[in-house]
Amino acid sequence: MANSSYSPVTQDVIEALKNIVGAGNVITNDEKIESYSHDETEAAVYGHNPDVVVTPLNTEQVAAVVKLANEKHIPITPRGAGSGLSGGAIPEYGGIVLSIEKMNKFLELDRANMVAVAEAGVVTNDLATLVQNEGLFFAGYPMSLQTCMIGGNIAENAGGGKAVKYGVTGRYILGIELVTPLGDIVQLGGKLVKDVTGYDLKSLIIGSEGTLGIVTKAIIKLIGYPTARADILALFKTPKEAIDLVPVILSKGIAPTSIEIMDQLSVITTCKYLNESLPYENCGAMLLIEIDGTSAPQIEMDLVEAGKLCEANGATEVYVTEDKNNIERIWNVRRNIAEAFKVYSPIQSLEDIVVPISRIPEIIPELERMGEKYGIKIPCYGHAGDGNLHATLVKDPDMSMEQWKKNEVECLEELYKVTGDLGGKISGEHGIGLKRRKYLKDIIDPVELGLMRAVKRAWDPNNIMNPGKIFA
Ligand code: LAC
Ligand code: ZN
Repeated sequence: MANSSYSPVTQDVIEALKNIVGAGNVITNDEKIESYSHDETEAAVYGHNPDVVVTPLNTEQVAAVVKLANEKHIPITPRGAGSGLSGGAIPEYGGIVLSIEKMNKFLELDRANMVAVAEAGVVTNDLATLVQNEGLFFAGYPMSLQTCMIGGNIAENAGGGKAVKYGVTGRYILGIELVTPLGDIVQLGGKLVKDVTGYDLKSLIIGSEGTLGIVTKAIIKLIGYPTARADILALFKTPKEAIDLVPVILSKGIAPTSIEIMDQLSVITTCKYLNESLPYENCGAMLLIEIDGTSAPQIEMDLVEAGKLCEANGATEVYVTEDKNNIERIWNVRRNIAEAFKVYSPIQSLEDIVVPISRIPEIIPELERMGEKYGIKIPCYGHAGDGNLHATLVKDPDMSMEQWKKNEVECLEELYKVTGDLGGKISGEHGIGLKRRKYLKDIIDPVELGLMRAVKRAWDPNNIMNPGKIFA
């Protein structure tokens, strides 16, 4: 849908941008611009420089920049922290990157309504910590929470480590202030628990990857802080044995907060990267099961039950810990796996396939089969309890680049095909962006794809808002 017939960013355009946001909030310097050319996908493959970066200070400035982009027909790419994993914030057609980094004010804690109101550039962890100090809980937990921003979480409908129990970002977003692709400011939703007043446009924006506008503020639902928590670390000989347990646990009515899997290569690589050492880091695979709530006796019961299930289903060792420091060390390893693999082998493809829970045991043997067939290492970790696995295709140093390019594409296509055949989809949390756009048509109904494209055309008639994302 994107085209390259956009207008250039001339000196006049730069001056107009300076008039809107102030000269100090316009970046044209080559060195500084480079850091806005990529996200966490492979920069050498996907990166592209913008012509200019603007860092507006408020919603009115965002709207004025978008209006200018329409008038001049210049593409505009919204950006949060740049921690995305599908290229959503990459300005493939150059033009303007609009970064929300300076719109980072926490605006309101409304206890009576159990909501927080924040600008989109607030760092997710800062929001979580701020409300935690008030005894409240924001249940979003993307693995990049220490750097990612609320606006980016909304644009990608970020998932993460607590989705088994708490669901993904969208469940906690009651309202959005949006600058539409035409530069209008609109409030969607509100401080409402229920709202069927017309189409649910707020939900359409959540996960729309910045293609339908720029989120500038959010009204976020809070819940009581879960004061009790314990974690189980269960060790297995093989990833298959670990993953087989996931549907068993979930079908027993225990409601864990998370069930994460880490295979041997993931743990060893990350421990090395962090200079950390976990007991038994050489085991075949680990399940990390978190249980939280407000009732310690209930947690105790669930823990015992989950522990017994692990023991009865192939775990070689089961550790239970309520020690916060210990838990945080293990979670720190878990959160850093993606980064560790980037350092270990920058030439790779990090995937986030998702299948129905009951089919998840079928994935691991398929990964092993494909790994052998294509000569590619496929370490695997992720949100086993959501059916959402980060199979990572990693280039072997001995494989030629030419061979890798061929094998990677074939392996990916096969992985997506297998996932589809299991009733799954190609992205559970990282999004389509530009990385997966050519595969979208293979995984969703053509009617659905047509409807998505029609929505995009209706919202963004000039196709200036994050063009080239989602759709090939
Ligand atoms: C994670 C990121 C890669 O779960 O989604 O670590
Ligand atoms: Zn993840």
